[in-house]
Amino acid sequence: MILSASHISKSYHNGEKELHVLRDINLELQKGEIITIMGQSGAGKTTLLNILGTLDQPDSGSISICGQDIDSLADEDLSKLRNKHLGFVFQFHHLLPEFTAMENVLLPALISGNETEIKERANELFDYVGMVERQKHYPAQLSGGERLRVAVLRALILKPDVVLADEPTGNLDVHNADRLLSLFQKINNDFNQAIVITTHNLKVAEIGKRRFVLENESLKHIDII
Ligand SMILES: Nc1ncnc2c1ncn2[C@@H]1O[C@H](COP(=O)(O)OP(=O)(O)O)[C@@H](O)[C@H]1O
Ligand SMILES: [Mg+2]
Repeated sequence: MILSASHISKSYHNGEKELHVLRDINLELQKGEIITIMGQSGAGKTTLLNILGTLDQPDSGSISICGQDIDSLADEDLSKLRNKHLGFVFQFHHLLPEFTAMENVLLPALISGNETEIKERANELFDYVGMVERQKHYPAQLSGGERLRVAVLRALILKPDVVLADEPTGNLDVHNADRLLSLFQKINNDFNQAIVITTHNLKVAEIGKRRFVLENESLKHIDII
């Protein structure tokens, strides 16, 4: 098992009001599996994904990654663990506008040594998604679909065990969304990386080997959509 969440609860406080978002969520992610989490806007998908990715903390419950309980880790060790095991694809790609596509992909790897090796891998990845010609383009010079593919490469550069993708197709047209889905499936096949995808789109949800719905603060496993 690569990532395990047990008894996760989370609420937000806005002044006097308390908003419960997650209640007693349990999830175990196996090596190399794709799971999808469907949910309406506001259901708590981003909150859950951020907690699974150790970017946010639950009020209660625990997360363990590759057998390591993250509660016991100091900040620095937690960032190392995150860097080593997790890759993120955010809904709005979050590429840095002043860096080229290649530089954006290399960024997470800057702190982790072997430059030649990393550059080689980045080149391979651009080739993998058919974007070798786009390496030196800035995000503003890329289409929405291309930007998201660059964001996916950035998530993959350090060979994470798990890729967490938050509504990755949310802002893409049907063609680019299909392309991105095939890319996730290809990555999963070729590199045996586990992938967690949140979505409110049925078609995206269908690529999950296991599928879940997040509603009323709970995560439910569903067989058929
Ligand atoms: N930092 C925050 N402070 C207060 N409320 C928040 C915060 N982040 C999210 N929420 C609220 O929590 C609920 C779940 O949000 P979110 O996890 O972003 O849902 P989703 O990604 O499924 O749209 C929403 O009602 C949202 O308004
Ligand atoms: Mg969200």
